[in-house]
Amino acid sequence: MKSILSHFRSTFFINRNNTISFNFRYNSSLPSSSLQYFDLSNIHSTPPNLTPNFSISDFILFPNHFTQQEQEFLTTRSLEKLKRVFGKKTVYQPSHFDHIIHNYRECQITNWTNGDNEIEQEINNLLDNKVYKLFSKIKWLPIHILELAESIGGIKPHVDNIEYSGNIVVGICLISPTVMVLRHINNPGCKFSVLLEPGCLYIQRDTIRYNFTHEIPIDPEQHKFKNNLIPKRHRISLMFRNAK
Ligand code: OGA
Ligand code: MN
Repeated sequence: MKSILSHFRSTFFINRNNTISFNFRYNSSLPSSSLQYFDLSNIHSTPPNLTPNFSISDFILFPNHFTQQEQEFLTTRSLEKLKRVFGKKTVYQPSHFDHIIHNYRECQITNWTNGDNEIEQEINNLLDNKVYKLFSKIKWLPIHILELAESIGGIKPHVDNIEYSGNIVVGICLISPTVMVLRHINNPGCKFSVLLEPGCLYIQRDTIRYNFTHEIPIDPEQHKFKNNLIPKRHRISLMFRNAK
């Protein structure tokens, strides 16, 4: 059975008819502080006329954006929320060939707690300061918590459904490092990888959000960054998407 939240992702690409004309800006530089987390070795071999165009700087990474204490706080609150939604026993949604996400639990947040206003306030203040303040004049959809099981959890290549959310997808990464692979929709060989360490915040916007699929390799042997195998551990991400 498909998750009721699966409409947030799509494996189908709607032809956008190139109505938006992006300049070819893929050379535009990434901030040097985050460069070590990118593997761009398969981007430079791309034909220069690859369409639709893209700018690598539409993937923005803020490493160590959350302190250890903030990460622990968000992890604890997320696990408590998942327990309230799914029950005490942890049962992951299994893999199924047409599922985009394998071995996971996911829920949408309207409230983090069962009416504990102090904690609600604390989380909201933290997210205001560290997420929402980075953007101006944006209407956000409810946050999603996504939990992936150790070793067998993963996400197949997809573009977040363009019918349901806007040009910005933000992720907060918790608990363990993960490798995200992004591939151009018209040329999957044109790809780059990002090492997403716990405590980071990343943004996919505009040309990267629309013109690249993103995935977290399901096969532990493929979960590599710059040829180093990154052990697949239990992971939680908080996902923020803007309204269209
Ligand atoms: C998603 C997704 C990435 C992540 O939920 O659609 O791609 O970092 N998540 O968990
Ligand atoms: Mn996604």
